[in-house]
Amino acid sequence: MQIEPLFPVALGRVQLSPDPLDTALQLQALHELRGHASSNPDPGCAWTGDLNGVWQLQRQPAFAPLIAGLTGHAEAFLQQLGFDLSRVALHLQRCWPVLSEEGQVVGRHHHPNAHLSAIYYLNGDGSGRSGCLRLWPQRQVNELVPGMAVGHEGPLAASPWSAPWLDVAPQAGLLLLFPSCLDHAVLPNEDPDDLRCSLSIDFALTAPVARDGSSPPEYLAPHPSQWQEL
Ligand SMILES: [Fe+2]
Repeated sequence: MQIEPLFPVALGRVQLSPDPLDTALQLQALHELRGHASSNPDPGCAWTGDLNGVWQLQRQPAFAPLIAGLTGHAEAFLQQLGFDLSRVALHLQRCWPVLSEEGQVVGRHHHPNAHLSAIYYLNGDGSGRSGCLRLWPQRQVNELVPGMAVGHEGPLAASPWSAPWLDVAPQAGLLLLFPSCLDHAVLPNEDPDDLRCSLSIDFALTAPVARDGSSPPEYLAPHPSQWQEL
């Protein structure tokens, strides 16, 4: 029998080859931005810039060229999904670092304020030792019986049709793009010699600026420059 995969979720992967000197300078800058803090503040939770005043890395000279390049890949991702870039405006909402010491995690969450999310790894050897990104499906319909895919010693063997999650190992220079509504987490950093360093980016899509009396399409928020703050 042929089983046809329906409704796939899009995970974009781009392996970049950053200049090692640029990466070294960025890692140094992140250490300085974190300062004396080392967690969020629970000692088991990685330090994340969005909770510590570091949410606009795109405006810092050490990161701006890198993040501009990543944004270009986000546009390419949208095009592959079928978006007509002349009819949407892509906004970078925020960009923040995540620094994970040995044993630290980021709990399961998603980004309800954004539409498209990206992660860029400044380090990682591809082994997953420093803590994989774990992505969960929104619904697990192929397990047929809810909960079966994670049931212990249940009658449903592991298969790609009912994988309860997908783990992605950090790799220096790897960029990931995925819908912001997907639940995700960072697993424990099990490498005592490596501080796991990544950047997160949230993007939002709106209509382009409406000109000459035209109206934005109703299915997109109007361009923020045409909102009125009250
Ligand atoms: Fe996240």
